[in-house]
Amino acid sequence: MPRYSDDTIERVRSANDIVDVIGQYVRLTKKGANYFGLCPFHGEKTPSFSVSPGKQIYYCFGCGAGGNVINFLMEYENLSFTEALRSLAERAGIELPKEGDGGEARGISELKKRLYDINRDAAYFYYDCLKSSEGEQGLRYFREKRGLSDHTIVHFGLGYAGKQRSSLYEFLKGRGYDDESLKSSGLIIYDEKRISDRFWNRVMFPIMDPNNRVVGFGGRVMGEGQPKYLNSPETPIFDKSSQLYGLNFARKSRKGRLLLCEGYMDVIALHQAGFTNAVASLGTAFNEKHARLLKRYTDEVILTQDSDEAGIRAKLRAFPILRDAGLNVRILDMKGHKDPDEFIKAEGAEAYEELIRNAKNAFMYETSVIRSRYDLSDPAMKTKFYDELAERLCMFTESLERDNYIQAVSHEYMINYEELRRLTEYKFLRSGTGQQQRISDERKREETERRVVRMEPSGSSEGKGHNASLKAQRLLLSWSSSDQRIFEAVSRHLSPEDFSEGVPREVFIEMQKESISGGIETSRLMGLYEEDDEKRSSLCQILNMDTGYKAVEDMSSFELDKAVTRAIQGIRRYILDKRAEDCGDDIGRLQELFKEKKELDKLYVHVGEDGETA
Ligand code: UTP
Ligand code: MN
Repeated sequence: MPRYSDDTIERVRSANDIVDVIGQYVRLTKKGANYFGLCPFHGEKTPSFSVSPGKQIYYCFGCGAGGNVINFLMEYENLSFTEALRSLAERAGIELPKEGDGGEARGISELKKRLYDINRDAAYFYYDCLKSSEGEQGLRYFREKRGLSDHTIVHFGLGYAGKQRSSLYEFLKGRGYDDESLKSSGLIIYDEKRISDRFWNRVMFPIMDPNNRVVGFGGRVMGEGQPKYLNSPETPIFDKSSQLYGLNFARKSRKGRLLLCEGYMDVIALHQAGFTNAVASLGTAFNEKHARLLKRYTDEVILTQDSDEAGIRAKLRAFPILRDAGLNVRILDMKGHKDPDEFIKAEGAEAYEELIRNAKNAFMYETSVIRSRYDLSDPAMKTKFYDELAERLCMFTESLERDNYIQAVSHEYMINYEELRRLTEYKFLRSGTGQQQRISDERKREETERRVVRMEPSGSSEGKGHNASLKAQRLLLSWSSSDQRIFEAVSRHLSPEDFSEGVPREVFIEMQKESISGGIETSRLMGLYEEDDEKRSSLCQILNMDTGYKAVEDMSSFELDKAVTRAIQGIRRYILDKRAEDCGDDIGRLQELFKEKKELDKLYVHVGEDGETA
C-alpha cells in the first residue's frame, strides 16, 4: 500500500506532543513523571489511563489500550492511519508531500470522506423536509403517534423523505456529487430504467457513529406497510455488524451502565425519558463486535430487548457473548409490555427506573426461562428441571461463584440447597463439560496472561522461572526505552535469543536497530504494530512496566546497577536452567552449565560504563 515515508511520519509525530493532543480530549493530571486521566476507551471512575511525556505514548492499565499519538487519534476519532496523520500534520502546520498519497490508500479514504459528506447532506435534506410544509405528515407522526418532543426530534436529527421519487438525488447532484459516489452511498438506486431515491414517503432516522458522523439511515413507514423499516445498505462507512444506534450519545452518559434494546424508537423513547445510556443493535443479530464496542464504554449492560419470543431469544443470545467480553449482564423484565417505548408510554419513566433497579442477574433470568418450560406439578418434570439447573450452574467454574449461584437458585425455586449443591458438584466433577470447562477456563486465564506478554506459542506452559524471566525482560525493555545507557548495558549481556519469542524479542531487535540509527524513540516503536492492537497493547504494557518502580532518573547509580544486574541474571539463569533440563545425562555439559551459572552469580553490570563484568 503506498504511504508516507517513515521520515514524514516521524516529522508529524514528533511535532505533536502527546500530552497536548490527548489533553484536548481527556482531563489529565500530572502524577510523578506521567499524566493520568479517565480512560476514554472504557468506562471507569478512577483514572488508569496514563500518558508518558518522556516516551510519548499512552497506555490504559484498565483496558490495555495503548500507542503513540497517531494511534490515539485513530482510535478516538475512528480514523484510518492516513487520516490521523493528515489531521496531525494540519495541527502542526506541516505540509504533507503530495507523492505520499497516491494510489489505493488515497482512493479509499477519499471515497469514505465523500460518503460522510453525502450522508451528512442527506440528513440535513431530510431534516429540512420534515420542517417544511411537505413534511407535515411526518412531523405529525413523530409528535402525535410517537409522542416525541421537538427537542428530541432535533436531538436525533429526525427527518422526512417526501413522496417524490428523486428529490434527494436532485438535491445531491445540485451539491456537486458524482454518480459513482452517490451509488456507493446506497441512498440512490441506479437501475436500467431510472435513477431514484432509496427512501421516499417515510420518516427518517439518521444513524450516527460514535463520533457523531452520519453513516446511514433507517426509514419507517408512517402506519402499516412493508417493510416497516428500510435501512441503508452496507457501505465503506456503514458496517452494520459493528454499529449501535444511540452510542454517540450513550457513550457520554456516564451512567455506569448501558441499556441494550432492539429498535430506533426504543432508543429515542428512552433518551427522551432521561435514559440517555440506551443503545440498539438495529435488526442485526448481536455479536462479539458489538460486545467489544460496549466494553469500551462500560462494565455493565442491561438487556431490555422486546418481551416477545424473538426478544427473549435475543437476550439469551446476547448474554453469553457479553459475559465472555467481560461484561456484567442484567436483564430487565418489562412485565408484559412489548418494548421499552411502549412500557414508558404506559407506565412512565419512574416505573422504568424501578425496572432497572430490579433488573435480574442474567443467569437468574435464564433459569426463569428454563423453568417456564417445565410443568413442576409433575414430579418427573421437576426432577428434569433440577437436572437442567444443575447443568447450567456448571458454567460457573469458580467454586465460590458457583456456590453463590447455587444458593440463589435454591432460594428462588425453593429447592433444598444441599441437594442442589450435591447434584451440581457431582455434575461439575463428573461430566466432561465441567472438566473441560474448568480446563478451558484455566486456559483462558493463562491465555489472557500470555496475551499481556505475547510470547509463548499457545499450548506450552512453563513454570515460575519463566514468569520471573519475563518480568525481568519487560522491566529491562521498559528502562531501556527511557535511558539509552541501560539499553547499551543490556545489549552487552543479552542477545535477542535471551528474550522470549514474540513481542519481547521483536521489541529488543527493533531497539537495536533504533539505537544504531541515532537512539531509541519509544513512540516510534509503535510503528512495529500499527495494525495489531493486541500486540501494540502488550508493547505498551511492557514499556510501562517501570511505572510502579522508582523512576530511573531518581535511582542512584548503585541502585540502578543492582536492579539491572538482577534482571539480567534472572533472564540468563532461566535460559541456563532450561538448557540443563534439555541435556539429559550429558554430565560434562551439565558441569559446564553449572560453571556458567556460578559465573553469573558474580556478574555486576555497570550502567554507563563499558569495561565491566565479574
Ligand atoms: P421492531 O419491529 O421491534 O420495531 O424492530 P420497533 O423499533 O419497535 O418499531 P416501532 O416501535 O414499531 O416503530 C426492531 C428493529 O429492527 C429493525 C429496526 O432497526 C427496528 O428498530 N427492523 C425492524 C428493520 O430493520 N426492518 C424492519 O422491517 C423491522
Ligand atoms: Mn416499538
